[in-house]
Amino acid sequence: MSRIALCPGSYDPVTLGHLDVIERSAALADEVVAAVLWNPDKAGTFAIEDRVRFIENATAHLRNVRVAAFAGQLLVDVARELGASVIVKGLRAETDYAYEQPMALMNRHLTGIETVFLPGAPNFVQVSSSLIKQVASMGGDVTGLVPDEVRDALVALRSR
Ligand code: PNS
Repeated sequence: MSRIALCPGSYDPVTLGHLDVIERSAALADEVVAAVLWNPDKAGTFAIEDRVRFIENATAHLRNVRVAAFAGQLLVDVARELGASVIVKGLRAETDYAYEQPMALMNRHLTGIETVFLPGAPNFVQVSSSLIKQVASMGGDVTGLVPDEVRDALVALRSR
């Protein structure tokens, strides 16, 4: 039976930190699904199609990674639907653990699914989607922290 790992997130937009976790997950599992989870009641920065496309383009070289979007669903239900047996998340710092631990325990309580944490790559510790958006919106250069396509889309947002 093949082992499917689920890498969930808002991915608004995907960063090189996210992609590092997805790529490392691809080496650990038979298949990885990067799941873009979004709340239909909350307007994000990027359209869901854009978020999905950014990840697809950045993972095109990984044969066992695919991307899917889910609106307003519990992560455990997404995992069940996909047949995923493990959730994989990256941890940049202790604050990430404080945020992730209750969700990991709740998800295990709900269906028994385990969450595995990968230590975030040191060169991306400062990288989060929200910080990237803030820096880019004020003219900062985010090259090397997000895919070039995402950087260009952030620059385009500035002139809207
Ligand atoms: O990239 P993010 O915003 O840190 O991702 C958080 C996400 C989307 C993975 C998390 O909010 C989530 O799992 N949402 C789905 C709804 C859900 O299952 N909520 C209960 C979690 S215990």
